[in-house]
Amino acid sequence: MSLIDLGHTCVVGFQWGDEGKGKIVDALVEHFDVAVRYAGGANAGHTVVVNGEKFALHQLPCGILRETVTSLITCGTVIDPAVLLGEIASLRERGIAVGDNLRVSDRAHLVLPYHRQQDLLTERAARPGSRLGTTARGIGPCYADKAARRWAFRVCDLFRPDSFRERLAEVVAHKNAYFAAVFDQREPIDASMIADEYLQFADQLRPFVCDTIVLLHELIAKGKRVLFEGAQGSLLDIDHGTFPYVTSSNAVTGGAACGAGVPLSTIQSVVGVVKAYATRVGAGPFPTELTGAVGDTFRERGGEYGTTTGRPRRCGWFDAVAAAHSARINGPTHLAVMHVDTLAGQKELKVCVGYRLGGAITTTIPADSYDLQEVEPVYETLPGWDEDVSGCRRLGDLPSAAKGYLDFLSQRLGAPVRIVGVGPGRDQTIFIEKEG
Ligand code: GDP
Ligand code: IMO
Ligand code: MG
Repeated sequence: MSLIDLGHTCVVGFQWGDEGKGKIVDALVEHFDVAVRYAGGANAGHTVVVNGEKFALHQLPCGILRETVTSLITCGTVIDPAVLLGEIASLRERGIAVGDNLRVSDRAHLVLPYHRQQDLLTERAARPGSRLGTTARGIGPCYADKAARRWAFRVCDLFRPDSFRERLAEVVAHKNAYFAAVFDQREPIDASMIADEYLQFADQLRPFVCDTIVLLHELIAKGKRVLFEGAQGSLLDIDHGTFPYVTSSNAVTGGAACGAGVPLSTIQSVVGVVKAYATRVGAGPFPTELTGAVGDTFRERGGEYGTTTGRPRRCGWFDAVAAAHSARINGPTHLAVMHVDTLAGQKELKVCVGYRLGGAITTTIPADSYDLQEVEPVYETLPGWDEDVSGCRRLGDLPSAAKGYLDFLSQRLGAPVRIVGVGPGRDQTIFIEKEG
């Protein structure tokens, strides 16, 4: 299948986020009509570089940068209206049209200021060793309220101002009591200030809000092609990631069907995105982490600083055990391997192919985070290359060691590498069309 004929496609990260999903979505979306964010919220930071100009998107799908694409933020996401509206305003200032090309689900849950506060307070109150290192965007508390139901607000609630105010007062009273009792937070939150602010947001959001499920099904029925944009990564998935050091939503492909409201059979292709090495931002086990010079080189060469928080990303060798776990769950039809340029200059490259734990070697990821913390990686060593590959535009332009490295990853993950990233720019991408 040609890359421009993928059918409805899900782009999903196979590591701990920041794999380069934004760049891949941007590279592919010109062949699609609809771009869908299906999970997560403003914790995501997806970077697209167009002619040297950098865009960092948190709430909006990267499809928004292409005017002909309809961008949807669907019900599996959590929306911080201040971030979303700020992002819309800043794109408009930069000459990007945002209007009829954007629709926001009336069912998506709302992040409120006390969610962000609860996120911070919870992290601060935790013992240093047990902090998750969240993005402080209120994601966990918002999804927790969603699951608990009683304290949650959805976008549609903004359009019943009286009941919104009334219920918000009840919820804020509960949050004030909770914050005082658990965190000794004596400064009460003012419900009416939040209500005023959010009801103003409601007016600004109104033109974008609709039932995105109905709309998406109408678009599909008309033959429009849909690109689902994963946020976070499979190893941060609430069910399949390295729990508890994960986010609070289903980042995996299954989350796309659920979060957007389409049958599972809708998704025809899955592009699994990996970095050619591994990074992680925030806390949690990271078996292949490199705390010395090689890790520093990856960080500096790869610009590995968080798009959302600016935190330095932890860097390490490619972990094929962890990525194979993601491949198992997502069923990739294609792989995109990013940052191949960043690996240049290493004499040897290591790939983790097993974990040694308690004298035995395993090739699956343990459920227990203490076990994962303790595993010792078993590496295969592959030859590196010195050439700068950032100008390569065809597979044949890459040094043979780089091609060998890609073949090795492909074999380990059981899917063909069809896209290679050789730099952050839109054009710094190699597409590998299948022969015949
Ligand atoms: P996302 O969250 O998966 O969209 O990834 P981020 O945007 O958070 O982080 C990826 C970073 O790597 C961004 O700064 C991108 O501009 C950059 N990037 C993406 N692909 C490549 C690549 O192939 N090479 C290099 N050097 N940078 C890349
Ligand atoms: P994108 O879409 C990288 C990480 C946080 C933290 C954990 C929980 O850009 O790939 P949360 O704020 O979600 O409760 O934090 O998850 N995290 C990400 N790391 N990329 C992301 O998104 C992330 N979203 C959350 O650093 O370790
Ligand atoms: Mg990111």
